[in-house]
Amino acid sequence: MKGRYDGPPPSGQATSKQSVLVVDDDPNNLKLVSASLTLEGYEVVCASSGEEGLEILAGRSIDLLLLDVRMPGLDGIEVCRRVREQPRFSRMPIIFLTADQADTERTLLGLDAGGDEYLHKPISRRMLSARVRNLLRLANAERERQLLTQVAQAEKLAAVGQVAAGVAHEVNNPLSFILSNLESLRGYVNDLSRVVQAYRVSPEAGAALDRTLGIDALMADVKPLLDETVQGGSRVRAIVQELKTFARQDPDTFEPVDLAEVARCTLVLTERELSSKATLVKDLRLARVELAPRQKLHQVMLNLLVNAMHAVEARPLTGQRHTITVSTRTEGDVAVLEVSDTGCGIPESARSRIFEPFFTTKPVGVGTGLGLSVCAMVVDRLGGRIDVESEVGRGTTFTIRVPCDADERSPSTPLPRLQVAGAR
Ligand SMILES: Nc1ncnc2c1ncn2[C@@H]1O[C@H](COP(=O)(O)OP(=O)(O)OP(=O)(O)O)[C@@H](O)[C@H]1O
Ligand SMILES: [Mg+2]
Repeated sequence: MKGRYDGPPPSGQATSKQSVLVVDDDPNNLKLVSASLTLEGYEVVCASSGEEGLEILAGRSIDLLLLDVRMPGLDGIEVCRRVREQPRFSRMPIIFLTADQADTERTLLGLDAGGDEYLHKPISRRMLSARVRNLLRLANAERERQLLTQVAQAEKLAAVGQVAAGVAHEVNNPLSFILSNLESLRGYVNDLSRVVQAYRVSPEAGAALDRTLGIDALMADVKPLLDETVQGGSRVRAIVQELKTFARQDPDTFEPVDLAEVARCTLVLTERELSSKATLVKDLRLARVELAPRQKLHQVMLNLLVNAMHAVEARPLTGQRHTITVSTRTEGDVAVLEVSDTGCGIPESARSRIFEPFFTTKPVGVGTGLGLSVCAMVVDRLGGRIDVESEVGRGTTFTIRVPCDADERSPSTPLPRLQVAGAR
């Protein structure tokens, strides 16, 4: 069964009714505008003065504001200014309705007050409908973008939380041998200082103690112990470095990125956890992308790996191990990243929804349903696509394709051997 993420649904197509507030002191105009917009499927709220309009805005959410310019009491321009002063309305589209086509000064005043557009009376239904639709489409697209950015940040933290247990394990392991090596080295230093003291008393006493304590064997052991300890320290440092990459909140920087490197770095945090659940197969070949947000790609990789891990957990095998395969390569002019698992698979009924934010089949506390929507957003921004192939009871493959670095575009890239990790 194949699927594909083809981008978000077109913005501006209201899934639930969008609301428009019309403020005009002329009851005929109110009736006309209100009738046209209701026919278009909007929820229309009417106010016959600026004061009433502000009151309505204070009490409920409105998606777009239509404001008559000339009204007794608060005129449209003043209402617009007051509305824009409130941060929650900073992005709400505002259209002025005016009969004064030629009054440039007044038009400018309205635009300076924060209005987006002017519609001239007598109002054409088609023009009204087009302006409202377009402004709402832009506002919706912006809202969607903001939401996904917030979601991406929340998701990043959630994903780090998910691997926290694995990370603790990753750090604990080198730390415990660092500590045990240091304990041995402390004993060796103690023996050595006793021999030095003895030599200071007399060369014979020193030589005797040297033999008794087996200093030659001890010295032969010191170098490997020190090497191992330094290696362990470097591993802890690498893990902490990776964690810092995930937790960073800086704005994205676009830089040349090799997807193989992204996969390697993400596996620093997850390999042990993954290998405890499945045989991890790595086939990481050069897959360079010219300009990409490295951190976001780490997140994409982490989301796919966590999903694969959950999928294998959801289909226990007897007498056999599951496999999770991570591969990267360059294919013509695209860089490819693929994560496959032999887990539970995705049923047909869920397949079309998996990229929707908050769609999850996992219990509360396990999944938030944000992982794949974040992946889709990141890949979309790079002009790429995600394909999913899945069969219930057999497994799933997610394939990400993004345009590769122009220098790397070639039909043939060297094929290194498969690396198998975690095989038992
Ligand atoms: N490798 C996979 N195998 C089987 N089902 C999968 C796989 N990856 C994703 N899914 C399905 O797609 C759904 C959505 O995935 P997504 O990563 O967006 O959210 P999640 O994993 O449920 O939660 P989280 O926000 O923690 O990632 C999952 O709940 C699961 O049903
Ligand atoms: Mg997920």
